Amino acid sequence: MHHHKFNDFPTDFLWGAASAAYQVEGAWDADGKGPSVWDIFTKLPGKTFEGSNGDVAVDHYHRVEEDVALMAEMGLKAYRFSVSWPRIFPNGRGEVNEAGLAFYDRLIDSLIAHGIEPVLTLYHWDLPQALQDEYGGWEDRRIIDDFEHYCVTLYQRFAGKVKYWVSLNEQNYNLTNAYQLGTHPPAVQDRKRFFAANHIAFLANARVIKAFRQHVPGGLIGPSFAYSPAYPASCAPSDMLAFENAEEFTNLWWLDAYCFGRYPQAALAYLRETGEAPEILPGDLELLREGTPDYIGVNYYYTLTFTDNPLGGQTMQRINTTGQKGTTPSSGVPGLYKTTPNPHLETSNWDWAIDPTGMRIALRRLSSRYGLPLMITENGLGEFDKLTADGQVHDDYRIAYLHSHLKACQEAMQDGVELLGYCAWSFTDILSWLNGYQKRYGFVYVDRDEQGGTLRRIKKDSFHWYQSVIASGGKTL
Ligand code: BG6
Repeated sequence: MHHHKFNDFPTDFLWGAASAAYQVEGAWDADGKGPSVWDIFTKLPGKTFEGSNGDVAVDHYHRVEEDVALMAEMGLKAYRFSVSWPRIFPNGRGEVNEAGLAFYDRLIDSLIAHGIEPVLTLYHWDLPQALQDEYGGWEDRRIIDDFEHYCVTLYQRFAGKVKYWVSLNEQNYNLTNAYQLGTHPPAVQDRKRFFAANHIAFLANARVIKAFRQHVPGGLIGPSFAYSPAYPASCAPSDMLAFENAEEFTNLWWLDAYCFGRYPQAALAYLRETGEAPEILPGDLELLREGTPDYIGVNYYYTLTFTDNPLGGQTMQRINTTGQKGTTPSSGVPGLYKTTPNPHLETSNWDWAIDPTGMRIALRRLSSRYGLPLMITENGLGEFDKLTADGQVHDDYRIAYLHSHLKACQEAMQDGVELLGYCAWSFTDILSWLNGYQKRYGFVYVDRDEQGGTLRRIKKDSFHWYQSVIASGGKTL
């Protein structure tokens, strides 16, 4: 009997769903918005799946009321969205665009009117192109002041209305793509520049968290980290070492910097040896320690399994963006680690391992190392969905994915994790940055493909399923 009570989700659990500005809004140049780096990058030949871009996306900008009404019908308790920096500052800094702020007024007021807690992400990759052109974006420390000014503008506007804030979304994933793989703008492949830009992003993150304390008393802020927990391929000591290397280089490099204000020891020593370590100026680490988060946002999709990688071995490789299963190559850093398929796990058509236990492990590792509350800011399944002849979308595979991962959240809470909420990725279908419109995540199907469409909203089976989970407070899981 007592166990049953212990298993319940807390009554104030934030049952949520998420999105990001570029992936849903469209209206890319409406009402004074300036171009972001993605508005420019997606138009270069060969950069995205079939040249897809977010000019229209799913037209959320013009359909806010309709979309929030669907959220309310579903019973959502929280909605995570991001603000487009170039909508607020078309040139990245300088003159503020009042019309841009007014759009987010509408969205936030409408959420609140429906009893939905807004979770505001300050930065989900859509850097103003003006700042990229002016000083190279994240590669120049000038961005720290400009980002702070933009964030403080939002703090002042929304402090009374928004309690939960996300600083940087997936700095690790975004900058790895931007400066190592060359797959996100500015499409650089240079490890030294990668670690340098990444260090500056840490400073910017800490600076805006520091400023948050003054402007949003009672609010909570933290970064959203793309956490793919590392597994060893076997108990061979060489695989165990590869796993330790991978966890330290691909995860703790960010998490320790955010939460402890320092870089992990072995990775830093290695990078000093190779000459790729970031330049740490006096005051930098102090700033990191003054700007640690209130909670960690966790974006969890899959675990990665690692094995030994000799010098001269496998280098970093791009992932499958076509949905042709089995086309993602092994990727790694020679001398440190490389990925290998996990024979115990099924994968999606984009080769992402489906691993709910990995989510429990992720939450436990983070909670026990950092002692902070956690929020799942993203978790979901990208798949091909079919609008069937009956006018419905029967996404039972998505229901199975979400169900098993919510069970894992429940188990993690039994393990002592303080979990504030769960934002499924995504509410409506979205533009997947590199994978186009065919990789769908939503509870709500949007009738469009790479060519366009009616943009009509259609509730998937998963919509009704999540609606009943929320209504029961998780008891139907
Ligand atoms: C995260 C991002 O990387 O995962 C989202 O924060 C993204 O913006 C999501 O859409 C799923 O990734 P993808 O590449 O399948 O769209």
